[in-house]
Amino acid sequence: MMIECIYSTSDYSDMVFLVSMSFNKVLDAQYNSTVGKFVWFTEQAEKSAEIWNNNQAFMQGLKADVDTYCRHYARIVDSAVRDKTVKPKVKLSSVKQAEGNHPAVLMCSAYEFYPERIKVSWLRDGKLMTSEVTSTMEMADGDWYYQIHSQLEYTPKSGEKISCVVEHASSPQPIVKDWNPSISESDRNKITIGSSGLVLGIIIAAAGLIYYKKKSSGQWR
Ligand SMILES: *[C@@H]1O[C@H](CO)[C@@H](O)[C@H](O)[C@H]1NC(C)=O
Repeated sequence: MMIECIYSTSDYSDMVFLVSMSFNKVLDAQYNSTVGKFVWFTEQAEKSAEIWNNNQAFMQGLKADVDTYCRHYARIVDSAVRDKTVKPKVKLSSVKQAEGNHPAVLMCSAYEFYPERIKVSWLRDGKLMTSEVTSTMEMADGDWYYQIHSQLEYTPKSGEKISCVVEHASSPQPIVKDWNPSISESDRNKITIGSSGLVLGIIIAAAGLIYYKKKSSGQWR
């Protein structure tokens, strides 16, 4: 028997109390608080379901459970978890650039979030991509935070918009990162370091040249 309280709103207005009775992994009968009675899916469950449905005291108890069980415990569990959510840091980067007929690979990583449950998906011009996506499990860092990584293999087309979408309890709106194919952050860092080095080199060379000239002209003797 599996008992579930299913909800997605913070005021619990959509709370559903669900009792599922199974044997050998086959669902026999189910109580759904929205329906308000047991429905059965196998012949052998029919008799039991009818007996339960006709037991008014039992059915009253189940009906009350939406409040006394589900909403009651949801409040307790949420105060322990939902109020302690930590928003993921989302990073979108290039793993491999397209070469010939080899596709490009992008990586979307979410770091340091809590709780574990998260959804990472990819959009191409607003349309969900599925077949080209491989994702890791949520990985525990061991400090209550989690991380997850999702890779997208795709053939770039000019003018398209690729986005990584992260859905997590810490944020009512999905976190969307758009891919900017022009210069990636690591490339930008390389360019910055390279040009800093170049400027520094020119300064040192110029200083050396001036020093040499002045010295050879005999000014400092
Ligand atoms: C419970 O019943 C309602 C109404 O029929 C239905 O919309 C809902 O999907 C059911 N919930 C589950 C988890 O089966």
